[in-house]
Amino acid sequence: MLVPFAFAVAAALAAADPLAKRAAIDDCLSAAKVPVDTPDSDEWKTDANPFNQRLPYTPVAIAVPTTAEHIQAAVSCAAQVGVKVNPKAGGHSYASFGLGGEDGHLVVELDRMDNVTLDSTTQIATVQPGARLGHVATVLYEQGKRAFSHGTCPGVGVAGHSLHGGFGFSSHLHGLALDWIAGVTVVLANATVVNASETENPDLFWALRGAGSNFGIVASFQFKTFAAPSLVTTFQVDLPWKNASSIASGWAKLQDWVKTDMPKELNMRILGNSYQTQLQGLYYGNSSALQSAMQPILSKLGAKLSDTEESDWMDAFAHYAYSPTIDITGPYNAAETFYSKSLVTSALPSSVLQNVSNYWVEKARSNSRAWYIIIDMFGGANSAVTNVPANATSFAFRDPNYLFLYEFYDRVYFGSYPSNGFSFLDDWVNIFTSGLNTTQWGMYINYADPAMSRAQAEEVYYRQNLPRLKQLKKQLDPTQLFDYPQAIDPTTA
Ligand SMILES: Cc1cc2nc3c(=O)[nH]c(=O)nc-3n(C[C@H](O)[C@H](O)[C@H](O)COP(=O)(O)OP(=O)(O)OC[C@H]3O[C@@H](n4cnc5c(N)ncnc54)[C@H](O)[C@@H]3O)c2cc1C
Ligand SMILES: *[C@@H]1O[C@H](CO)[C@@H](O)[C@H](O)[C@H]1NC(C)=O
Ligand SMILES: *[C@@H]1O[C@H](CO)[C@@H](O)[C@H](O)[C@H]1NC(C)=O
Ligand SMILES: *[C@@H]1O[C@H](CO)[C@@H](O)[C@H](O)[C@H]1NC(C)=O
Ligand SMILES: *[C@@H]1O[C@H](CO)[C@@H](O)[C@H](O)[C@H]1NC(C)=O
Ligand SMILES: *[C@@H]1O[C@H](CO)[C@@H](O)[C@H](O)[C@H]1NC(C)=O
Ligand SMILES: *[C@@H]1O[C@H](CO)[C@@H](O)[C@H](O)[C@H]1NC(C)=O
Ligand SMILES: *[C@@H]1O[C@H](CO)[C@@H](O)[C@H](O)[C@H]1NC(C)=O
Ligand SMILES: *[C@@H]1O[C@H](CO)[C@@H](O)[C@H](O)[C@H]1NC(C)=O
Repeated sequence: MLVPFAFAVAAALAAADPLAKRAAIDDCLSAAKVPVDTPDSDEWKTDANPFNQRLPYTPVAIAVPTTAEHIQAAVSCAAQVGVKVNPKAGGHSYASFGLGGEDGHLVVELDRMDNVTLDSTTQIATVQPGARLGHVATVLYEQGKRAFSHGTCPGVGVAGHSLHGGFGFSSHLHGLALDWIAGVTVVLANATVVNASETENPDLFWALRGAGSNFGIVASFQFKTFAAPSLVTTFQVDLPWKNASSIASGWAKLQDWVKTDMPKELNMRILGNSYQTQLQGLYYGNSSALQSAMQPILSKLGAKLSDTEESDWMDAFAHYAYSPTIDITGPYNAAETFYSKSLVTSALPSSVLQNVSNYWVEKARSNSRAWYIIIDMFGGANSAVTNVPANATSFAFRDPNYLFLYEFYDRVYFGSYPSNGFSFLDDWVNIFTSGLNTTQWGMYINYADPAMSRAQAEEVYYRQNLPRLKQLKKQLDPTQLFDYPQAIDPTTA
């Protein structure tokens, strides 16, 4: 067919312009009475501002629903007009996936929907998808001294966090945030609303708990809760890890202990940066019981407890929140400029330990940027995370051989992240993975690394669960409406 030249060019330009469909999507949202942010409004600036300033993207439109019906109508408009759509909850994706991870997506900004209600009979919490962790924890504690397991940062959205994992200072004892989801109400790609739980739409429920962003927009969560303990103890241990051989030998002792002996009531991580290397933890018990629980590993490490502090549940949350405000509601614009990577690994063979420790001392400690590494004591024989059956949810790392969850984080406080900066973390992570096979490591999409291709990313995030996830994606979202650069591709094997 002969296409007039000017027409062909115009069509090509339209296809290339991710914002070309703005008028059409605006009209559809307006006709459906979905609240929106108008471009250039202060609300738009706030809602489009990414947590990772390195990765700003321009939405084609921002819907601001207050009901599940608004979410349905927004999804329906995206399908009609032919734009991708992504929910944004707390907005803390390291890769700006709540904004679509590229220009031109319809963003469904959920943070106006943040009610939390505890049922005092069932002790089940109904949580709207835009609630942030600090708000959830505060309300559950106020309404009934209840809690569930989740991460430390009060501004993180419960939705993105719990749909892809959710590890924190209660996870060794109580599991991931996703293990506490009892049920959800979710808007699917065909704009229908369904409930999912162990008994209703169990395949969808399986997929949502680990890979939620691929399958719909959760409009409401039901979380199980546990009684918040009246007394817990926070603590730290300065590690005498001055040189590479002391890191490697200390780490080897630590991993043996995590694998078989670490008591379940202990929850701990290593924090390393240019100034310190320490264990930080939360113990479910008093300080004398903590001392007994830690003594075996302290003797092996040649270290001692410091800063032990008994407190109630909310004070312990505040201790690791690094935020003056815990109960965060409404807009919140914390932001940093960084590159981050993640790992989940089993025990490290001694050659890997030696090489990653060398890098830590030689390269990391001389990096003048504000880097850190967090190594969570994730799994092992006594961890609730790795005591869940491997096929219970789509979260890939349930084998008790998985011991550590790592966050590598390299940031600048001023200016932009340098183009020659990426190799710092890429090289470090490569040293781990080059000495491990694929049953010994993977990555965590809650610390998304957008430098990976889609094919690499889906493999390392989902491992053995990827084939079933692709099958379900093909059934539930064949046109890839809920898409972003590392979303599951149903068209490839
Ligand atoms: C300061 C900070 C501290 C952190 N601490 C921890 C920690 O202690 N432990 C830990 O495990 N992680 C931690 N994280 C990582 C955090 O869990 C992830 O970034 C998480 O995905 C953020 O969720 P969000 O809702 O805030 O992000 P968003 O960017 O809004 O969403 C993240 C992803 O989830 C999708 N999504 C959001 N809402 C929905 C919904 N309703 N339905 C379906 N999909 C949805 C989005 O489309 C996007 O793909 C931390 C992050 C930051 C920035
Ligand atoms: C959320 O809470 C507010 C204040 O308590 C209430 O007015 C509103 O109706 C609640 N919304 C929903 C959907 O429960
Ligand atoms: C989903 O469950 C809620 C109660 O949690 C109920 O009110 C609603 O009608 C259910 N919706 C569907 C589509 O089954
Ligand atoms: C590393 O540190 C330990 C403990 O301080 C010390 O005994 C050892 O000699 C050091 N090793 C090297 C290679 O410097
Ligand atoms: C601390 O906890 C232990 C174990 O629960 C208990 O036996 C002990 O009495 C407690 N000590 C104090 C001082 O409360
Ligand atoms: C997990 O596997 C067991 C045993 O094969 C099976 O009975 C169960 O239904 C599976 N669970 C899920 C959620 O697929
Ligand atoms: C560790 O580093 C040495 C020296 O660079 C290299 O020969 C060896 O293969 C590395 N080991 C692993 C497991 O990567
Ligand atoms: C991976 O390494 C582990 C530990 O050495 C080993 O048990 C397992 O068989 C290896 N798996 C594969 C697929 O090579
Ligand atoms: C929407 O998709 C779900 C899941 O595939 C399916 O059960 C339902 O029938 C679909 N609804 C419509 C109206 O197409």
